[in-house]
Amino acid sequence: MMTKTVAELLSQDATLQDVTIKGWVRTFRANRFIALNDGSTINNIQCVLDFENFEEATLKRITTGAAIRVTGELVESQGKGQSVEIQVKTLEILGDSDPETYPIQPKKHSFEFLRENAHLRTRTNTFSAVMRLRSSLSFAVHKYFNDNGFYHMHTPIITGSDAEGAGEMFRVSALDPKKPPLNEDGTINYKEDFFGKETNLTVSGQLEAETYAMSLGKVYTFGPTFRAENSNTSRHLAEFWMIEPEVAFMDLAGNMDLAEDFMKSVLSYVLENNKEDLEFLEKRLLDEEKTKPQNERSEMSLIEKIKFVVDNNFKRVSYTEAIDILRNSKPNKKKKFNYIIKEWGADLQSEHERFLVEKHFKCPVILFDYPANIKAFYMRLNEDGKTVRAMDILFPGIGEMVGGSQREERLEVLKEKMKALDIPEEELWWYLDLRKYGTAVHSGFGLGFERLVMFTTGMGNIRDVIPYPRTPQNAEF
Ligand code: 4AD
Ligand code: MG
Repeated sequence: MMTKTVAELLSQDATLQDVTIKGWVRTFRANRFIALNDGSTINNIQCVLDFENFEEATLKRITTGAAIRVTGELVESQGKGQSVEIQVKTLEILGDSDPETYPIQPKKHSFEFLRENAHLRTRTNTFSAVMRLRSSLSFAVHKYFNDNGFYHMHTPIITGSDAEGAGEMFRVSALDPKKPPLNEDGTINYKEDFFGKETNLTVSGQLEAETYAMSLGKVYTFGPTFRAENSNTSRHLAEFWMIEPEVAFMDLAGNMDLAEDFMKSVLSYVLENNKEDLEFLEKRLLDEEKTKPQNERSEMSLIEKIKFVVDNNFKRVSYTEAIDILRNSKPNKKKKFNYIIKEWGADLQSEHERFLVEKHFKCPVILFDYPANIKAFYMRLNEDGKTVRAMDILFPGIGEMVGGSQREERLEVLKEKMKALDIPEEELWWYLDLRKYGTAVHSGFGLGFERLVMFTTGMGNIRDVIPYPRTPQNAEF
């Protein structure tokens, strides 16, 4: 007796005498046809039973969501819609599912409803497809770096520094919030806290990754990242996963090449390995778009969009050029943007980023050489004294997917920058050491994994591409 997965059975062309399969009932109709799914594929296997051979009591327990074990014969299907099916000999109910209360009924549920039932939502086609793709993308990320000579490092989750300098951090403390130890001036005395200093959940593994790049050469970290920004948008999470490669002796141009090659490679991987899930999600998206007015529908299907990114060069545009384009754009002149671009130096809002990628260039865009004062302290100052070697990669439908830079490798310039921003040298003494001992040009970037999953699956809300989203006012499950 062989226990196989649904995926294995469906790819079988010969008939098999004795097969055993376990899974969850999706539907049971006419007291005869069970659609069974076990998570191994988007497809169900049809199990056909002769109800006269089974007790009424057992048949009643074959309900949507129930876990069952079936044995029988795999045969060519009599009906349409599937090539093979199981002629059931024995059937055992492993776990009942009360049809009165089981939330996931065989009908269309809203994504909001499914978010409230996130522990069961991967029992639907859409969410199982999304999460299989997420898993596959994650594997492709590790494969790419491994194939290209990078070392994977684990950067700390609890840290004493604010890498991005934005101050949007979750405090980690073991002090009693009701009566914390105080200094004489009434402030909290963190010397008495667990680590003897103030600590937070990390907003980026970059600074630690830099230390390893400056000894191991090519490294990357792929881990949970935390931001306490109160952004209730469809693209922000308080806990997300970031992929951060860091490479010694690589400049900004090399950084762009790496990011582009990396993204094309992982997308190619899923095009090759997750065809059925992508086709399902593509169809879902088409159905969803039918409800939208013609001018809001996308010109390309999901798979076409992914192929387009794989097959075309990303457009590389300097911040200065982008500002010129935006200043002269229709929505700017007609005051359709919420933030009108007036002069060089303005920070770009997502409406501007989306205009550039979706309306103007119609392809992924790498913006580089941003004004120093709108970017983080560690970025390499250009010779003009006012721009830094930063790059953001903007994607259609998503906006910012990647943020990266060439790092400031000159000790004195870095110290001055930190002083201007009130970043104490004592806090980052080890980071400064890298500039004292064998400093060199080096670069890296961070890619928000969930935004990549959004692009790949066509899902419109970042809460629907991570198993259990953490967002303001929400940490259920
Ligand atoms: O642009 P960010 O803030 O860059 C860094 O943290 C650098 N230290 C990376 C580096 O150079 N090693 O974040 C990088 C990416 C963004 O482009 C975005 O895709 C994602 O992380 N990201 C978020 N994703 C989901 N929710 C949030 N709140 C995010 N904040 C950033
Ligand atoms: Mg950024």
